[in-house]
Amino acid sequence: MTGDEGPMKGKVVVITGGNAGIGKEAAVGLARVGATVVITSRNPERGQAALDDVRERSGSTDVSVMDLDLASFASIRRFAADFLDRSDRLDVLLNNAGGILSARTETEEGFESTFGINHLGHFLLTQLLLDRLESNPGGARVVNVSSVAHKGARKGLDFDDLQSRHRYAAMNVYSKSKLANIYFTRELARRVGEGVTANALHPGYVRSEFGRSGDLSWLFAFGNRLGSPFAISSEKGARTSIYLASSPEVEGVTGGYFYKCAPASISAAAQDDATARRLWDASEQLVASAG
Ligand SMILES: NC(=O)c1ccc[n+]([C@@H]2O[C@H](COP(=O)([O-])OP(=O)(O)OC[C@H]3O[C@@H](n4cnc5c(N)ncnc54)[C@H](OP(=O)(O)O)[C@@H]3O)[C@@H](O)[C@H]2O)c1
Repeated sequence: MTGDEGPMKGKVVVITGGNAGIGKEAAVGLARVGATVVITSRNPERGQAALDDVRERSGSTDVSVMDLDLASFASIRRFAADFLDRSDRLDVLLNNAGGILSARTETEEGFESTFGINHLGHFLLTQLLLDRLESNPGGARVVNVSSVAHKGARKGLDFDDLQSRHRYAAMNVYSKSKLANIYFTRELARRVGEGVTANALHPGYVRSEFGRSGDLSWLFAFGNRLGSPFAISSEKGARTSIYLASSPEVEGVTGGYFYKCAPASISAAAQDDATARRLWDASEQLVASAG
């Protein structure tokens, strides 16, 4: 099958962080089945290289790249405005970009970067694109790439220190951001109009560019290298993203969490819908406070 005749023909998919790892493989897979794919990148050279690669491997020319830095609300707003201007439909928003950072840094608006990029940036992006998703003929899907690492945040989120000013431990902060992805998914599923679904996923332990040098402390990086023989390829890691973005099997399914293209269990903390609502309200306030 070529992209010209695939089941996603005519559907528009936006993939954040589509210039590397799991996001790039999701772009290849979705372009192969006919989707019009927009990958985003915060770095123009990496974006162009990924675009060439995705086009070549998918055999589709219906792929483009747009600038988006999730650590900057100005960049998110610019991207959303450009995208809405350029495309009158959005079928799938795949919130995939993310990372783990060894040292505490801040986004342009002064939010802790892991929380800012992995959760808050995607929260704002989704809000800005929501009307287009809700008005899409035939419905639309939001797919959020979370992680089994959310289970590491056993005590849930610390609302007194969402910006991790008092204590910063990379893995713990990352786990909380991935827990936030699940809260966001469940609350979004509850709030959006009929026709839009929201699901989260764990891609597996994937040999991507995740945690590449500079992003991780030496100890974590060492552990990551030791574990890498057991890791799966980014192509395999992208399968659940592609499934949730395109499969008729999950038509109308919402608020779920998936692994290996099947529903999977989430932590007790992640099932706390009152906290999901609290995070939504806090996120709205943080976005508003940044002007
Ligand atoms: N790898 C795993 O084992 C694993 C397991 C569970 C969950 N995940 C999740 O899977 C998702 C994809 O990760 P991956 O494994 O594919 O890692 P990756 O190869 O490092 O790709 C991450 C992508 O996110 C982008 N990104 C990072 N910060 C950004 C920012 N400020 N603005 C815009 N884009 C940004 C990166 O762009 P640059 O190229 O510019 O850095 C890259 O395109 C993440 O959400 C991660 O938490 C991964």
